[in-house]
Amino acid sequence: MSLRVDDLTKRYGEVAVFAHVNLTVADGEFVAIVGESGVGKSSLLNCLAGLDDWQEGRVLHDGIDLGTLDESARAHWRRQALGFVFQAFHVLPHLDVAQNVALPLMLLGIDDHARVDAMLAAVGLAGLGSRLPAQLSGGQLQRVAIARALVHRPRLLLADEPTGNLDPSTASQVMDLLLSQVREHGTSLVLVTHSAAAAARADRVLHLKADGLSEAVDRH
Ligand SMILES: Nc1ncnc2c1ncn2[C@@H]1O[C@H](COP(=O)(O)OP(=O)(O)O)[C@@H](O)[C@H]1O
Ligand SMILES: [Mg+2]
Repeated sequence: MSLRVDDLTKRYGEVAVFAHVNLTVADGEFVAIVGESGVGKSSLLNCLAGLDDWQEGRVLHDGIDLGTLDESARAHWRRQALGFVFQAFHVLPHLDVAQNVALPLMLLGIDDHARVDAMLAAVGLAGLGSRLPAQLSGGQLQRVAIARALVHRPRLLLADEPTGNLDPSTASQVMDLLLSQVREHGTSLVLVTHSAAAAARADRVLHLKADGLSEAVDRH
């Protein structure tokens, strides 16, 4: 899917978070967004997902202007087209691993155990479907979250510091897996990260500042 952001400005009350953000992401492209803590990276991703509102500008997915959709149309679009991975996993503790991964399919009325099992195998969790999240490591929990974000084959994946709670070696394995999945399926990826190693793997790295998004300058 292609994503275009035109001159986006976000404020909380009177406080401007970012202004004049422009961005295009081509079908299948991987764009990393870096920036200081508090500069609005999470807020920007939430706007791209239509989970938060903005004050000026437009967010277009495949030409569809998110700003023109009401809440239920946005929710419908998200269920079909979007996957989201958070730093803190957000796996539901009372559902087992397979049930967590099956959630997006359930919301679409699809009952497909084989697809859930295949997704678990693809993220290295074959055979762990009946475990509860409390019985998994951090790296495994993030694999569950990645499987859940991709099981419905979204065209766009948004990831907010998905390796931020993982040790470097686990982080690198989780990035490998995330990238192999998005590359295999041609999913577009917008990844917010503090990790230079993760950003280095992107097709493009952009730097978010209060006055907009620009190509990150590599000074090395
Ligand atoms: N719901 C909210 N209401 C008011 N201010 C918020 C809210 N969410 C975030 N902020 C503020 O907006 C700024 C950007 O936050 P955030 O998007 O989380 O930044 P980042 O992800 O880059 O660390 C911060 O100053 C934060 O305190
Ligand atoms: Mg954040």
